[in-house]
Amino acid sequence: MAMKPGSNHYTRSKNNTISKINKHLQIMKNRVLFKSYINQISAYDNPVLTQVINSILKVKNKSYAISDQHIFKSIENYRKELTLNTKTISYEIFNSNAKSQVHEIYRLAASSPIWGELLYFLVRDNQSKKILEIGTNVGISGTYILHAMKQNFEHFKFITMEGLVQLCDLSNEKFKSITSEHNFDVISGLYEDTFPVIIENERDFDLLFIDGNHQKEPTIMYFNELKKSMSSKAIFVFDDINYSEEMKEAWNYIKTDEKVNFSIDLYKWGILIIDESEKIKNKAFGIHLSYH
Ligand SMILES: C[S@@+](CC[C@H](N)C(=O)[O-])C[C@H]1O[C@@H](n2cnc3c(N)ncnc32)[C@H](O)[C@@H]1O
Repeated sequence: MAMKPGSNHYTRSKNNTISKINKHLQIMKNRVLFKSYINQISAYDNPVLTQVINSILKVKNKSYAISDQHIFKSIENYRKELTLNTKTISYEIFNSNAKSQVHEIYRLAASSPIWGELLYFLVRDNQSKKILEIGTNVGISGTYILHAMKQNFEHFKFITMEGLVQLCDLSNEKFKSITSEHNFDVISGLYEDTFPVIIENERDFDLLFIDGNHQKEPTIMYFNELKKSMSSKAIFVFDDINYSEEMKEAWNYIKTDEKVNFSIDLYKWGILIIDESEKIKNKAFGIHLSYH
């Protein structure tokens, strides 16, 4: 069917093309200026920022120790198991009759190795001891997080939240194979119900991975509430900051919050550093790590 200029279809398709061109221009700029951005960032001597940049460089250059490679290999094996898992998952909790199999959910929603590996280094090298994740899914990001935490501590806390109870069970089983049950909680239920309980009862998160419910209002609300539950130095990681216009707006709002010291736009992820001992505010950087 030919598209007529002025029709809705024509406008949507034109906007999509413009948005794709903008995406590639922004990524290209960040790729070309990569070294220069890293040099600029190195001029700031904030330890959390330095650690975050070192983690990004480690993943960019794939400079992994043998022990890290072994861990990543074991997670690859879990990924293979998931690709073969045909268990049916019901979306009833979201008031939907839809059903999917685990392997479909894994392919659609789980973090890819590069982002999982970055999460692993952020957690390990920042010595994160109390972490909140919004968005457990099939436990892929959680496995990177737990492997990283257990290298630094015998006792620690990883809290992760998920609506689909069968995915909570699946992740729970996987996590038990990595560490003691005392070190993690998989909170089952809709965020509308479970998030207020977390805010009421938990404090001192030093890393927060916001990867569920990718809409503007909830994302901003999670951030505003979680600022009260973080430790004096914290790293926030937001997934899919360029996934939609709404998410772009949410990211632009969040990164200019008066508490934020540094923000790093990795196109897919947005990382914020809040360090109460740091005077510099709202310094924003953009770096290219991966297209996917
Ligand atoms: C993108 S996935 C998380 C991926 C995972 N963090 C990873 O990196 O492998 C987001 C998850 O959030 C859950 N979710 C989305 N909105 C929710 C809500 N309002 N309440 C509870 N769970 C929700 C979905 O069921 C989905 O499993």
